[in-house]
Amino acid sequence: MLKRLVVAIDGPAGSGKSTSAKLVAQKLGFLYIDTGAMYRAITFLAIKNNVLQNNDAIIELAKNSGLDLEFTNGETHVSANGLDITDKIRTQEVNVNVSDISKIEGVRKALVDRQRELAKKNIGVVMEGRDIGTVVFPNADVKIFLTASIDQRAIRRTKEYEEKGVHISLEEIKANIQQRDTIDSTRDVSPLVKAPDAIVIDTSNISIKEQVDVILNLVQQVVHKKE
Ligand code: DC
Repeated sequence: MLKRLVVAIDGPAGSGKSTSAKLVAQKLGFLYIDTGAMYRAITFLAIKNNVLQNNDAIIELAKNSGLDLEFTNGETHVSANGLDITDKIRTQEVNVNVSDISKIEGVRKALVDRQRELAKKNIGVVMEGRDIGTVVFPNADVKIFLTASIDQRAIRRTKEYEEKGVHISLEEIKANIQQRDTIDSTRDVSPLVKAPDAIVIDTSNISIKEQVDVILNLVQQVVHKKE
């Protein structure tokens, strides 16, 4: 019988976080939480409400949008006050604006509170993002920091869009990822940094199975120690 366990997976866009986090959660029967989807949801709502330039209004959205995440059929379904917005959060317009929205301290505070609340739903959680091991769960049982070369990351994201029938050029995707990396890692509040006790896995040249196995082994080691 497992005791409560949190696996934190951080890293830049396209480093393999979602792919491995989903599979690790599935193998362990844990709850999977994609925190990027929440920042994307607030960005979509800010665009829709035409308040991209109004931080106070965006913070209100983060506090009062009743964000919910449900992971079904291999996909995170996002809703705001009961309305499904899953299809709206991965557009290029959201890609371009999401890092600026993520810099706002009040937005982060509201979403981190919600992330901690969502995590209570299960005995085991795999949460992925940029600040999970540093801010959201600094005492997480397993902390992973995934990296990969920029070219690999851009190729992966381009393929993901192609599979969904969305055609965005490799160059455009690469430029967006680079821009987001810069903003995400240099912002004042909860920047994307490796937690001192996180284990780095470079996924540029390893298979998905290998990434997942490394993480599962780390989780098993922690479980044995706890027993
Ligand atoms: O994981 P993603 O690419 O869907 O995340 C979208 C953006 O959300 C990312 O560029 C920065 C922000 N984000 C964040 O600031 N903190 C998190 N924990 C997760 C995502």
